[in-house]
Amino acid sequence: MKTINDFLEAKKENRKITMISTYEYWSAKICEEAGVDCILVGDSLGMVIQGLETTLPVTLDQMIYHAKAVRKGAPETFIIVDMPFMSYQISPEDALKNAGRIMKETGANAVKIEGGEEVIPIIQKLISSGIPVMGHLGLTPQSVHALGGYKVQGKTQQQQKKIINDSKALEQAGVFSIVLEAVPSNLAKEITEFVEIPTIGIGAGRYTDGQVLVFHDMMGFFDRSPKFVKRYVEGKDLFTQALKQFSQEVQEGKFPEKKHTYD
Ligand code: KIV
Repeated sequence: MKTINDFLEAKKENRKITMISTYEYWSAKICEEAGVDCILVGDSLGMVIQGLETTLPVTLDQMIYHAKAVRKGAPETFIIVDMPFMSYQISPEDALKNAGRIMKETGANAVKIEGGEEVIPIIQKLISSGIPVMGHLGLTPQSVHALGGYKVQGKTQQQQKKIINDSKALEQAGVFSIVLEAVPSNLAKEITEFVEIPTIGIGAGRYTDGQVLVFHDMMGFFDRSPKFVKRYVEGKDLFTQALKQFSQEVQEGKFPEKKHTYD
């Protein structure tokens, strides 16, 4: 299994890192068999699995439930688990208690926390207790209301300065990697060149040290995808076709056949 050192090495050796955000046993198993570098159990499960508008209602217990399933499906893969909204913001002690539950109960290798300078004391508390932390800057979905919606970040000079300062602060605090979400590619390039830890982009262009996509997005399970998603397969169409064929074959008595029957 990979360790945080392998991700740092990958950056030094100019090898791109692949990360997939997913939430179930079966999809994690496919990710491991396909050889992705790491799996994120993202709190995007609020939207993808629960059909919610935001990640805010996702609970720590739900993250733990899904992370356990992912670990079962991917026993040899480095797994990062998102700390959900309000599981780390209250105090470093509260964050440590909750991150501790994630690590003890799921077998994850690291946690991810959204935010910059304001979360540094929390990150330091976790890292000094032996819990590796991944940072997350740019569009931080847990702050969707404060950001005024799901918008590209880092467009103004002021925003750019803040994201750059935040990335330096996160690196100094000891995070092993930073997710950059929905920022212009030139800003992601500047940060990637500046920090020694790997950056992993989503909607951040081609210059980051790695890329992350949500499994269900890249497999084409939704009607529409954001601009940054590449749909590698049209999963919804394939599944719909299979279900229609199943219904038709049942109606017509073509399924089950003899080979599907215990005689
Ligand atoms: O929740 C998630 O899946 C994420 C990725 C999109 C980076 O945070």
